[in-house]
Amino acid sequence: MIEAKPAPPCTLVVFGALGDLSRRLLMPALYNLAHSGLLPDEFKVLGVARRDFNDDTFRQEIAASTRELAAADIDADTWNWLEQRLDYLKGEFESDDTYGELTARLDGNVLFYLATPPAFFGKIIDRLGAAGLVEESDDGFRRVIIEKPFGTDLESAQALDHEILGVLTESQIYRIDHYLGKETVQNIMALRFANGIFEPVWNRDHIDHVQITVAETVGVERRGKFYDATGALRDMVPNHLFQLLTLTAMEPPSRFEADAVRSEKSKVLRAVRELNGYEVTRNAVRGQYKAGKVAGQEVAAYRESPDVSADSTTETYVALKLEIDNWRWAGVPFYLRTGKALAARCTEIVVEFKHAPLALFRDTAVEGLSANTMILHIQPNEAVSLEFSAKVPGPRVRLGAVEMTFNYRDYFSAKPNTGYETLIYDCMIGDATLFQRADNIEAGWRVVQPVLDAWAKSTVEPQRYPAGSAGPGEADMLLERDGRQWRPID
Ligand code: BG6
Repeated sequence: MIEAKPAPPCTLVVFGALGDLSRRLLMPALYNLAHSGLLPDEFKVLGVARRDFNDDTFRQEIAASTRELAAADIDADTWNWLEQRLDYLKGEFESDDTYGELTARLDGNVLFYLATPPAFFGKIIDRLGAAGLVEESDDGFRRVIIEKPFGTDLESAQALDHEILGVLTESQIYRIDHYLGKETVQNIMALRFANGIFEPVWNRDHIDHVQITVAETVGVERRGKFYDATGALRDMVPNHLFQLLTLTAMEPPSRFEADAVRSEKSKVLRAVRELNGYEVTRNAVRGQYKAGKVAGQEVAAYRESPDVSADSTTETYVALKLEIDNWRWAGVPFYLRTGKALAARCTEIVVEFKHAPLALFRDTAVEGLSANTMILHIQPNEAVSLEFSAKVPGPRVRLGAVEMTFNYRDYFSAKPNTGYETLIYDCMIGDATLFQRADNIEAGWRVVQPVLDAWAKSTVEPQRYPAGSAGPGEADMLLERDGRQWRPID
């Protein structure tokens, strides 16, 4: 096995360095990278934020949050190594002084991480451009990492791309979707393209349908203001669920390279059949949770959550039936669902194969057999399982469903991971495979835009489902009318 080498020397400038994302995920990820020896000796972090901190107080703040998250496991040497490399710059994101100071302090390779509210993405990049801070030279690269959400619909995503591509080249932009930082998500490609046995049956001749579920037990919590203006469709589908869809459905790329992989992902989304007005009513379901119990705990109705309007029609659940109009997938429905305050946390891709063509076994009608199913368990269980039929021991031929499972924990030791380690490291080494290109983002919005438009006009409210349930009944109907069923959320 080839071990990863430390990344090249660079400075990571984090805009929004005292925000939730930075403290909860980025800084602990840097600690984990340092612990694995993947950060170069000449590494520096420059945190930029408005609060009145200095290098010392910034280091203390980050030390406290990293310790809290890593519990007792902080290694003192690693932490000391990283701490000496953390600096702070107090500055407004829209003030020229901030960029003047950055110009004075930066040289060589620089990575700008925009861990800020989305309203700042374009503004910061414009100012970085005006200050000449993103000009690349033989002395170093200049790259920008942008967090989600990238736009709130197709038009705003295109406008943002237009704005930032006026300042940066596409190869300098790293648009994050944190689902691509998950090992089990990256494994979808390995499973499909590093093995000879799956790909020959991975198509319309053998697969009946695919289900993609991202179920969450958390409700809207303290994110009411953001969430009520966003909803489950925008928050989860064009990004996270479409990562799972495209990796499952894409053609093998011609090479394992960023552009080849990203082109195949865009092609799949472009082949998704557009839902027109009537099809939205038929193939898209929206729900909103009412009061209930999740894991024994009382959960208030979504409409009663802080910063949520009392007559909100924002969806906290969405289910879609999509068709992919290409040779591999014609006639194979992809059912997608995601929701908050559901019965269990469970992200999985269920690939259900067609039944055997013939009722060979006496007394065992083919329809009575359970289907062969491959399940890619993404989280919290990390596993891949295959369900098939086997003979139940005994004198009569009877068949029963059995399962073979590969659990990650049985083969690989779990390393502390926030999901951002690989993404940050890849950006440092200039590998954009796990990042979204402009056309990937826009292709995702293009698929969901008709649904957003239809729901914005609709007078039909989202169907209420009790917190702690599997979602609204209409979502079950979506499959039942096709003679199918969701796999239970557990
Ligand atoms: C975020 C969404 O992008 O992903 C959240 O804004 C959601 O609403 C989260 O809870 C889910 O991520 P994960 O990694 O917990 O599945």
